[in-house]
Amino acid sequence: MMSIGTDNNDVAARTSSYLGLTRRHTLVQMSIKTGTGAWLAVQRLSVGMISRVTSAADFDRWYADRTSSTVADDLVRRTLGLPPDLESTSMLCGVALDEVAAALSLGPGQVLLDLGCGRGGYGREIARRASCSLIGVDFSAVAVEQASARGGDFRVGTLEACGLPDASVDAVVVIDALQFADSKPGAMRECLRVLRPGGRLVVTCWQPVDPADASVWRKFRDLDMAVQLPEAGFVDVSVVDRPEWRVVERRMWDEALAADAAGDPAMVSMQTEARHVLATFDTKRRVLATASAPG
Ligand SMILES: C[S@@+](CC[C@H](N)C(=O)[O-])C[C@H]1O[C@@H](n2cnc3c(N)ncnc32)[C@H](O)[C@@H]1O
Repeated sequence: MMSIGTDNNDVAARTSSYLGLTRRHTLVQMSIKTGTGAWLAVQRLSVGMISRVTSAADFDRWYADRTSSTVADDLVRRTLGLPPDLESTSMLCGVALDEVAAALSLGPGQVLLDLGCGRGGYGREIARRASCSLIGVDFSAVAVEQASARGGDFRVGTLEACGLPDASVDAVVVIDALQFADSKPGAMRECLRVLRPGGRLVVTCWQPVDPADASVWRKFRDLDMAVQLPEAGFVDVSVVDRPEWRVVERRMWDEALAADAAGDPAMVSMQTEARHVLATFDTKRRVLATASAPG
């Protein structure tokens, strides 16, 4: 016969986030009394509540976990068809990157702002192709530190207050980050503020298939770029669906679920999120928005 007593808990907590989703894993240590009277110390990982995360501190933890092994990064690069050294923390596939880079219309000597840049992978690749300068801004100090480790100009700032002067950049790209803004109109106005007249904005994100669908996270539901970008002052606004990017995205989550996570925290996080994302996959559509600052 066995008796069980809990010695302590909450020894460790871990956060994962792609789409602002977090699951806290708690390491619970128990003492089990065996039939011979000996006590065995047993640790097990208890999976707690899923909740949403939007704070810089939560993203800091997530970036620290993500770089603890290369397995998740390798899987993302392979399934999304990205260049071999691009560090992505989004779901933008290689074909989408080509389209985003072309839509930014950048040339040598110009300046690109990658807002919500994470580790800076996409901005760096776009700037390399266009031979232009890059400034990356993210509110996670850990992401900015990891981006800076490869060189370049990466700064801590927010989607609504990036810290750059007025009319100081030729283009702004926001890859899979706009959903996190507390104020979408505020973030759009910030992009317009830093753009030179005629400068380009390119945003990739998701919007609800049905804006009234309460099962979709409210941070996606309050995004309607076709309406909000013109209201913020942008011209030449185009918002188009990209279902083919979504097919690649689904493949990434399917492969993540099929992989052996083997205790790798980044892969465990990815599988947690994959289950949640796949369960609600058809409630959102993939969108690409392009717009210009008035000339
Ligand atoms: C899904 S990741 C995308 C990162 C990067 N654009 C990429 O594609 O690899 C979202 C990023 O937005 C950043 N972020 C979230 N809310 C933010 C805010 N209010 N201000 C600035 N950055 C924010 C997070 O730290 C994270 O790096």
